[in-house]
Amino acid sequence: MKILYVYAHPEPKSFNGALKDTALTALKEKRHEVKLSDLYAMNFNPVLNEGDFTERKKPDVFKPFFEAIQASKTGAFAPDIKEEMEKVKWADLLIFQFPIFFTFMPAIMKGWIDRVLAPGFGFNPVTNSAYDTGLFKGKSTMLVTTTGAPKEMYSEGGAHGDLNKHLESITHCIFEYMGMKVLPSHIIYEASSMSKERGAEEIERYRKRIFEL
Ligand SMILES: Cc1cc2nc3c(=O)[nH]c(=O)nc-3n(C[C@H](O)[C@H](O)[C@H](O)COP(=O)(O)O)c2cc1C
Repeated sequence: MKILYVYAHPEPKSFNGALKDTALTALKEKRHEVKLSDLYAMNFNPVLNEGDFTERKKPDVFKPFFEAIQASKTGAFAPDIKEEMEKVKWADLLIFQFPIFFTFMPAIMKGWIDRVLAPGFGFNPVTNSAYDTGLFKGKSTMLVTTTGAPKEMYSEGGAHGDLNKHLESITHCIFEYMGMKVLPSHIIYEASSMSKERGAEEIERYRKRIFEL
């Protein structure tokens, strides 16, 4: 399988860093082809702005949605966006790994989604290409994430509510919207206060999950 691994954590020596390294090793062992977008290491610019387009159809007023639809036809995206788009086109499976920041993904990854999975590229409301007719039909995706809070807090009836439900704004409203099949999320709760033993168990559990892909 061709796999794009999109990863966001600012510290290579973190638990997330160890999870990412484990996954990359396991994927190689299984002879998958892997491309990595390590967003902090790349210093990826997450801010969508006029510079995203090398050519403007409406130069007087900046309408990002309109320009993205046009650029999807002409290829007038900035080089850093195009590079990431090529990786997405190439991949059969996209894995997104990140620590939970305010019950969502870190801003650098949200910015990658804003700029790379642009209107006209993964979906196109103008041509009714979404969900069953999403432009990424045939691709799959999976979220891998860690929390500081315990599972009870992120369960139904817990103070925050079910984390899987919160993640639907990503899995359903972004990925399924674009036509992708969503694999069950791999969640590691309370990652910031784990014992070494539990950390090692969680790394092994993730290695097995990756092996079974
Ligand atoms: C800005 C910020 C926001 C955070 N928001 C949450 C949150 O909403 N819920 C939660 O459970 N943990 C939250 N955390 C904690 C991280 O998710 C946790 O420290 C991380 O998953 C642990 O992984 P690491 O050891 O690889 O950094 C937040 C951390 C930061 C820095």
